[in-house]
Amino acid sequence: MSASPTSESPDALSRVRGVLRRFTTPLLPDDYTMLVNPLWSRRELRGKIESVERYPDDTLHLVIRPGWGVPVEFQAGQYIGIGVQIGGRYTWRSYSLTNTPDTREGLFAITIRAVERGRLSNHLIGTAEPGMTVRLAAPAGDFHLTDPVPEKLLFVTAGSGITPVVSMLRTLVDRRQESDIEVVHSIRHREDLIFGDVLEDYDATVRVTSEDGRVTPAVLEELVPDFAERVVYACGPATMLDELETWAEGHGMEIRTERFTLDRASDAKGGTITFGTRGQTEADGATTILEAGENIGVQMPFGCRMGICQTCVRQLTDGHVHDLRSGETHEPGTRIRTCVCVAAGDISIDV
Ligand code: FES
Repeated sequence: MSASPTSESPDALSRVRGVLRRFTTPLLPDDYTMLVNPLWSRRELRGKIESVERYPDDTLHLVIRPGWGVPVEFQAGQYIGIGVQIGGRYTWRSYSLTNTPDTREGLFAITIRAVERGRLSNHLIGTAEPGMTVRLAAPAGDFHLTDPVPEKLLFVTAGSGITPVVSMLRTLVDRRQESDIEVVHSIRHREDLIFGDVLEDYDATVRVTSEDGRVTPAVLEELVPDFAERVVYACGPATMLDELETWAEGHGMEIRTERFTLDRASDAKGGTITFGTRGQTEADGATTILEAGENIGVQMPFGCRMGICQTCVRQLTDGHVHDLRSGETHEPGTRIRTCVCVAAGDISIDV
C-alpha cells in the first residue's frame, strides 16, 4: 500500500525532527519547529489561510494551504475538519471541500455561511484573514463520486448542501466526463444563491422555496422525467433527504445522501455532563456532548462530526442521551456518538 501524499516531504520532516530530538529533550521537537513555523507540527495537523473572499450575504470563501503531514488527497464531495481557538478553546466544525482534487496545488477550498448558533462559522466570518493558522482534520466522507461515474446523474441540493456537489461538478468538468447530468438546487430566497456560475454551467434548475415551494419528489418527477434512470446524489436538510430516500427506494433507484446539518430541535432538556475525571459542565439540549467537552477544554477524538464515521464513540456510564440524528434515546452502558448526542438529564461519559 502506498503512503498517502502529504503537502510536505515526510522524509525531510523526519530528518529535521530526528536531529531536533537529540537536542530538545525533555521538550518535544514540535515545540521548537512550531516556533519557527506554526505549520511544522505533527502532533496537530495545521493549515494556513491563504486567501479570504467575503460576500455581503455573510458568506466566506477560504483557501487553506495545509501544513506538514496533512494528507492533501481527497475525493470530490468529501469534507475537512477545521479547528480554531475561540475564547481559549478549540472549536471544530466540518466543511465540504469545494475545489476539485485534480489540481496539483494541494490546497483546500471551503465556503462558510453564517448560521444561527454557528459558533465557528460566525467567528470565521468576522475574523478570518490571510496568514491565520487553523487546525485541520484530514479529508474524509463517503459522499463522493464513484469510479466509474454513473452515466446518468441527478444532483438534488438545498442551501449550503450545494457545497460538496460543487466539487463534484467542477471535477466532472475538469475530467471532461460525458455523463448526462441534471441538477436541481433550492434556496429559501433569491439572495441566498451561491455558486451561481457553476449551476449555470450545468443549466441547473434553481427553485426559490419562499416563492415556489420546496422541492418534493413530485416536483422532481416533473422537472426530470427520466428520473428513474438516474443515480441520485442529494445534500440538504434531513426532511428533504428522508423524503428522497423513501422515494428512491420506491422506484428502485440508487441514492447517496449527505446529512449536512444536524437538526438540533429535540425534546432533550440538557443537564450536567461529567467527563470522567476531566471535567464537568452544564449543556442545553441542543449542544452535543462533543461540543460541550470542547467548550471546557475536554478534547475527544472526532472525524466527521455528523454521526457517520464513529470516531467519536464513547461509553455512556450514567444517565440518558438523545441522538439528534436518529431520534433514539440511549441507556447507560451503551456506546454513543458524542458528536450527535445531547444530554437528556445529568449524564457521565467515559473519556
Ligand atoms: S465524529 Fe464521526 S460519528 Fe462522530
